[in-house]
Order: sequence, then C-alpha cells, then structure tokens
Amino acid sequence: MYEHDVLVIGAGLAGMRAAYTASQNGVDVAVVSKVYPVRSHSNAAQGGINAAMTDRGDAWEDHAFETVKGSDYLADQDAVEILSSEAEHEVISMEHMGVIFSRDEEGRLATRAFGGQSQARTFFVADFTGQVLLHVLHEQILRLGVRVYEEWFVLSLIMEEGECAGAVVMEMKTGDIHVIRAKAVIIAAGGLGRAFEPSTNALICTGDGMALAYQVGAPLMDMEMVQYHPTTLKSNGALLSEAARGEGAYLLNSEGQRFMERYAPNMMELASRDVVSRAEQTEINEGRGVDGCVLLDVRHLGEKVIDEKLSQIRQLGIDFAGADMAHEPVPIRPGMHYQMGGIKTDVDGLTNVPGLYAAGETACVSVHGGNRLGANSLLDTLVFGRRSGEHAVDFVKSKKHANIDDSAADPDREQIRAMLARDGGGELFGAVRRELGETMNNHLAVYRDEEGMRTAFEKLSELRARYEKVVVHDKGKVFNTNLIFTLELGFMLDCAEAIILGALERKESRGAHTRTDMPDRDDENWLKHILISRTEDGETAVDFLPVKITQWQPQVRSY
Ligand code: FUM
Repeated sequence: MYEHDVLVIGAGLAGMRAAYTASQNGVDVAVVSKVYPVRSHSNAAQGGINAAMTDRGDAWEDHAFETVKGSDYLADQDAVEILSSEAEHEVISMEHMGVIFSRDEEGRLATRAFGGQSQARTFFVADFTGQVLLHVLHEQILRLGVRVYEEWFVLSLIMEEGECAGAVVMEMKTGDIHVIRAKAVIIAAGGLGRAFEPSTNALICTGDGMALAYQVGAPLMDMEMVQYHPTTLKSNGALLSEAARGEGAYLLNSEGQRFMERYAPNMMELASRDVVSRAEQTEINEGRGVDGCVLLDVRHLGEKVIDEKLSQIRQLGIDFAGADMAHEPVPIRPGMHYQMGGIKTDVDGLTNVPGLYAAGETACVSVHGGNRLGANSLLDTLVFGRRSGEHAVDFVKSKKHANIDDSAADPDREQIRAMLARDGGGELFGAVRRELGETMNNHLAVYRDEEGMRTAFEKLSELRARYEKVVVHDKGKVFNTNLIFTLELGFMLDCAEAIILGALERKESRGAHTRTDMPDRDDENWLKHILISRTEDGETAVDFLPVKITQWQPQVRSY
C-alpha cells in the first residue's frame, strides 16, 4: 500500500497545476496518470488561453460577460467571475515559470481574437499552446519532487465512512493492483471525447474521472452540453484550431459564400462555437456543403503568417486531408470536441463527496454552461486546478488517514479476475466501443431530437448488456492494453448514460443542446442545471440546481 496526503488523478494541466500548488504548500502530493504526463490530452490544445489584461485596456468583467453570454446563460456567474478575474495572474505565473508565449512586434505577449469575444485576449504559443504549458508544468513538478505514478491506471475510488480515502490503481507494467491511501483525492482526468466517434480528443479521453466519481455517488452536472468544434477534419476528426479564424480565416459553402453573414452578421466566423457549428451543419444539411463538409480558407493570410502561427494545422491538413491550406481551402465540419459538463464542484473544486475534488474538463464548476468559449478551457484547468490544490491542502492539514489497508483493493482484484476468466467466442471490446461512438455522434450531436435520443438510450442498454460479456483475449499481466481498453469502455458507457439522460431531461434548446423538436430557449423552466447521479442501489437519479446569477440577466443571444 502507498500513502500520500493528496492524490491527484491525471497529469494534464489541471492535475499538474493542482499538484504544483499542493506541493508548494508543503503537503505530500502524488500524481497518478495512465500515460506519461506530457502525453496527456492538454498537449493537444492548440489556439491559446484567454485573459483580460489591464495593461491592454481590457477588463475581466467584459471577459466574464462574454463567457456568460457564450454559455447561453447556463454558467454559474460567481464561478465565471473567478475564472476571468484570476486569468491575468494565471497567465503571468505560467510565463514566469518558463512558458515562451508568442510575442508581437513590440515584444509584448501577443494576442489573437477568439470566438464570441469582443477583444483579442487569447495568449498563445503559435498553434501548440497546450503542449508548451504542459511541458513547463511537468518540469516544475519534477523540480518540486512530486511523485508521479506513470502508466498506472485507476480502477476505483475508495470510500470509507462516506469520505474518499484514496484509490485502487493498476500498475500497467506489471498488472499488479495497489491501494494508494490519501486524505484527499483530486480528479483531473480530462474529458470523455472518445465516447463519440469521431472526436478531436486523444484515444485516452475515455471519461475515466467522471465515471469514477459517478460510481461513488458524486453527481455529474450539465452532461447534456457537448461541444462540437466548427473546424475538424472529416477523415479522422482532428482539430484545426479556431486560431485560423482568429487570424482571419473564412468559412465558405459550395457556392463560395461566406455563409456566416446570414447567421452572425456582426461576428461572422468568430461567433461562438455552437452558433458556427449549427450554421455549418445547416449549410451541409441544406445541400450547400462539399462532400459533407464546408471549407476553411486561409489563403489570403499568406504563407508567412500561416507558417509562423498555424504551422501545426497546415501540416494536419496536408497529412489527413491532402490539402495544403496555404494554397487551397480545407474541407472541415463540426466534430465532437469538449464536454462542458462533468463532476459537480464548488469554486474550490470540492465535489459533493467529502475528500473528493475535481478540476479541468472532468469537472463542472460551472464556467462553460451550455457552450464554452474557445481558449477558456486552458484557463479553467489552471485556475481551478490551482484552487483545488490550495483547498485540498487546507482540508488535509486537519485530517487523519482513513483506517484502510491493502484489502481495499480486493473487490477490484476479483472484478479483473472475473473479466479475464471470461472465455469462449464472445466479442472483444472494439465493436461495442465503435458502435457507442457512432450512436452518440448520430443522435447527440449538433442537432438532436427526442426520437434520436431515445434511440441512443435503447442502443446504450444493448451495448451495456454486450459489455458484460466482452472477452479480454490477452490473459497476461504485462501492459495488458486489451484489458485497459475494455475497462475504459466501461467508463465511457457510464458517461454516455449521464449524457443521454441529461439531454432527454432538458426540454428546450440552449447552447450546444439544440433540439429540432424544441427549438427555443425556455428561461422560465430551464434556467437550471441538471444533475445525474447513481444511487447506492445502482439506480440513476435526476436533480436540479438553479443557475447562480450575479450581474447578468439572460438576454437574447446574437452575434
Ligand atoms: O480551436 C482551438 O484551438 C481549441 C481551443 C479550445 O478548445 O479552447
């Protein structure tokens, strides 16, 4: 058995920011990650991080308002105020830690425009911002001597007398299963993108963190809010950063029109993501698409700007669409990108389960509501990663370890033994995973309706039944990726359940949840969060919470 004051699950930006803060505050903290830390999905964040800097004449209140408007008024405004007002400090802290942000001609930190915002307040490192932030934070936690359990896979959370007391973890190299006892656990395990196919998300984004919390009774909130990013490649769902539109790219239909002038005449291509994705999908559905896509055109920016600021996505277009954006438009379409919902937390990352915190995409604070603004996600990871680290430190100082020992892992050992013992000609995990992803993408995408969501729910029941019989053909212990992928599929099925239940519950259209059968926003009845949780007897429960409004009453949303 291992033991730490604070255990962080996940080594992306939220997890490492939490670990950095906790370690600096003098407690014994460890990070467990199923991948080597710099392979975490924060690595894939391209376009940048938002901050309203006072020396640019910007105001955090404007950033906050635009975040609330972007959320279609579902975000909790007290949390958004924290996000926006702490952004400047957070970006400067990262710069001081060693992040080499891109600079403008005067040598100041450069900014670019991002969607749904009146100011260019997105700070960036070319089009690989997340990668640089991640490497710098990794260096920092190594410098502080934080223990990182690399390539260890979390199987379950340990509950003792109603509190979270640690986690059961499999060391992937040996297959051995251990208990890590902790006074506080911070889940920062990222998103669930791969419950949809295709997705911009890495293959590791399987909703582990959300499902782990769900399984011990922590409510998941706003799960129906799934973001489809407007510019993804048809072939494999890869992201072409919003930075392209921030730098001035056009979106064109098959008739060569900049069609956004009909949907968002003021902000055009830089309307918020849900608006742009709906516009693209409408163009495609009404026959003005090009082979199921519309076109992203950056040619007018010139090769020099493209190479300086958009080099990664130029290469992605060449490799996966056979199109060099310096010379021709690239076909793109809306693709699953981000989960606005997650484990319900307060503004310090605390969930409804004592001792259990969450931060980053895994969590729902909620600062994104029905639709996240681009470049608010990196900010969310850092601000609320730090805050959960700080709060966990206070929590563990007056706390003793729970009275548990290695036997706390026995139920997981038995479950794995039973899974490996299944034999015969049963199916492997792959088809179940693919059908889950396709079902979600067919019925829980840019446009939804009751019939489609019910079809998805029925299909989910079928997939769950098949999952119970899935055969793991590799019976070995060393790096049994067949077993790991199968366990991840279990997490994805739990997340899908919460998404579909939340979506069926919300009888209106708001943000990314756009129902063709209920096209209007209904503030009178639905200005509230939906919480889905699992009860001790395995049933699902639905609950509601009012949206916290501080200064911005809901208005008609136009761009
Ligand atoms: O388009 C992008 O670069 C993605 C950024 C984000 O999701 O925040």
